[in-house]
Amino acid sequence: MQHLVDTDDFSKEQIENIMHDAAAFKKEMPSKLLEDKLLITLFFESSTRTRSSFEVAAKRLGASVVHLDPSKSSTNKGESLEDTFENLAAMEPDGVIIRHEFNNTPKKLANKNLTPILNAGAGNYAHPTQALLDYFTMLEHFDFQELKGKTIAIVGDIISSRVAASGIRLYTRMGMNVVLVAPKPFMPDNDLPKYENLSEVIDKVDIIMSLRAQLERHKAPIFEDYDEYAKEYCITKDLFKEREILLLHPGPVMRNIDISDEMLTDKRCKVLTQVKNGVFVRMAILKALLLDN
Ligand code: NCD
Repeated sequence: MQHLVDTDDFSKEQIENIMHDAAAFKKEMPSKLLEDKLLITLFFESSTRTRSSFEVAAKRLGASVVHLDPSKSSTNKGESLEDTFENLAAMEPDGVIIRHEFNNTPKKLANKNLTPILNAGAGNYAHPTQALLDYFTMLEHFDFQELKGKTIAIVGDIISSRVAASGIRLYTRMGMNVVLVAPKPFMPDNDLPKYENLSEVIDKVDIIMSLRAQLERHKAPIFEDYDEYAKEYCITKDLFKEREILLLHPGPVMRNIDISDEMLTDKRCKVLTQVKNGVFVRMAILKALLLDN
């Protein structure tokens, strides 16, 4: 039984296969490979893209999906998360897709080995399917040439971001250079090159990944005025000019704080391509976990 807690649960060969399958699925919708499979989604935090993307991916492959709404489940009656999970696992699904505020929840449930666990976002620790779909979007942009040696700048509230955490681990493993651009309160503690201003890196990067300031995760407000923050960190046409840089954002985008309205409609900005690719990459991930194992 294989789980996906973070991308390092996949070998490099598996990642290559996932990229290959996702590209093939994008060219031509496959047959109902997972027709007899059933997945349960369990989202303890809000989600627009990830939950619907997993569901669309599963259904495109013919699988059934059952949603459990935690706000109406027995965790509300004092049942522990583990007990809730063990009850769901007793119904013998082919996998449980979980999003939770704690970093270690997916790992804890995976260790029980009752059913494959797919991490759809855990605290600020990991969001592996987002990292893989972002990696696919970069690969596709560079015509499936190696990304080794390409430089990506991750910009914004990096310390709160599980997308950044998973991305950093995946991109460095694949030989990419990762640099971080953020004001001090948003900067994590690691060995990567760090900058406070976008102007210092703009001529050195192939890709920029902008991130949302995750206000709901801040114990106390970090900036009083996000318009001031935007003056330095918002991605604008003025900053990009005619440079050939790929612009990514995992969503949800805070318009004119993360990325300007004008840049959101620029062809270098791939926010909706990421969402489109997310379905194909999740289809490939479901195939890898439920069929290829
Ligand atoms: C992110 C998340 O929830 O981790 N979004 C996503 O899944 N695409 C990032 C965010 O909430 O800002």
